[in-house]
Amino acid sequence: MNVQAIDTPAFRPAAPARLDRPVSKLSQLFGAASRDMVKWWPADSFRDLTTTRVILGTTYHAINDPEAVRRVLLDNVGNYPKPGPLRRVFPLIMDGLFGAEGAAWRSQRRLMAPVFTPAAIQDFLPIFAAVAKGTAGNWEAQTPGAIDVAAAATRATFDVISRALFSAEHGLAGDEAARNVAAMLAGVGEIGIMAFLGLSQFRPSRRARAGRRGEAFLTERITAFIAQRQADPSPPADFMTRLIDAFAADHPPKEAAKLALSNAVTFLVAGHETTANALAWTLYLLSEQPQVQTWAAQEAQLALAAGGGPDEILGRLVYLRWVLEEALRLYPPAPRIDRQALADDQLGDLAVRKGDYIGVWPWVLHRHAALWDNPDAFDPERFAPEARAAQHRFQYIPFGAGPRTCIGAQFATAEALLVLAAWLARFEFAPVPGHQVEVTSDLALRPRGGMPLIVSRRP
Ligand code: HEM
Repeated sequence: MNVQAIDTPAFRPAAPARLDRPVSKLSQLFGAASRDMVKWWPADSFRDLTTTRVILGTTYHAINDPEAVRRVLLDNVGNYPKPGPLRRVFPLIMDGLFGAEGAAWRSQRRLMAPVFTPAAIQDFLPIFAAVAKGTAGNWEAQTPGAIDVAAAATRATFDVISRALFSAEHGLAGDEAARNVAAMLAGVGEIGIMAFLGLSQFRPSRRARAGRRGEAFLTERITAFIAQRQADPSPPADFMTRLIDAFAADHPPKEAAKLALSNAVTFLVAGHETTANALAWTLYLLSEQPQVQTWAAQEAQLALAAGGGPDEILGRLVYLRWVLEEALRLYPPAPRIDRQALADDQLGDLAVRKGDYIGVWPWVLHRHAALWDNPDAFDPERFAPEARAAQHRFQYIPFGAGPRTCIGAQFATAEALLVLAAWLARFEFAPVPGHQVEVTSDLALRPRGGMPLIVSRRP
């Protein structure tokens, strides 16, 4: 399909207004801005290479120079571990792969990497395809009508991660888990800055308390699941059994249980919420651009009709992949990556002092005026091979970069593409008249109040 020959008008999808000047420090600590990280940014931050703020004596640099990003995430990665106070913000997952550092991180990553190689992902493709087909089947009876595709995507991706990594056994129902995970993330976002500054106890807000309850609920259920697995003489030979056995072989029982818990929660949370938001944002963009949607849908129909296994179908979704990549640029589900300097360093013109925080914000980097033409416009052709080749490797990092890059990147991409193809081949997505799409980010970047779209069957 030659889509480059046809020019579509630039569409600038929903984004928070840019501020004339930085949000006040007081508001960043206590006001609405403290609960919504995409509302912090002044227009200058999308033009400057660095934004530095000092709050209560702590220096925070947000960096947008791809070379500096490369130094932090790759070339001098040893100097930039995840910030120590992150532990106070997110204690439950900090012993697992996401939070561990040094030798502990290396051994966990080595243990888990084989499950996520491109070859190993092939084993999960039938699960992705089956879940996508199941959701589409449920929609037949509800269409045409408004469906919250963000909620549907969350259920689908939770189902996928449950089946792929937990053999669907973890004692959590999808909606119940989604509610508790969302509460936990909102609570974490709420106490984020305060805890970074060592002040978390000063604001026991309602959201923070709900977050703690969500965390307690997940801890209790997953602890029971792990105990059950340990007692099972012939547990399913899946990712979780593999982790539980490996930790038990190398650590005292209490520590092994803690590591298994931390990783189970990590993979349940990181493995579905992010992909669900990627799906919701992609469908939103397509709903607003009917021509692009038609191209993507036709490609999906042809790809599915040509038959073969999910791996062959995946290989045919060339244009849809560009669309997904562009959605991850405009709406990176993980909008921030935080680090803290162990020692003084130089990032281009920026002198970093020991202890300074470094923020790499895909949200800002992906919309930066020096790096992208018409950065706020939706244009999947940015990801055509020639255009991609002209980009700096570190200007587009929805999955992070360097050794701490997302272990689930290929998993998430294959899952999102197969789910989108199944949905687009059968259904058309259109905006709900009068509904205002609003971007919000407590931690994940998501549409506030879900993403209702009018879904109808394709003729
Ligand atoms: C569109 C979906 C996804 C996005 C945008 C995303 C984004 C990211 C980002 C930006 C990081 C790096 C964080 C940092 O360096 O501080 C990361 C790490 C991680 N992600 Fe993902 N992720 C996605 C899906 C997944 C899936 C499906 C899984 C699991 C099946 C997963 C598991 C993890 C884990 C365990 C880490 C920590 C890796 C390490 O530190 O070694 N993610 N993710």
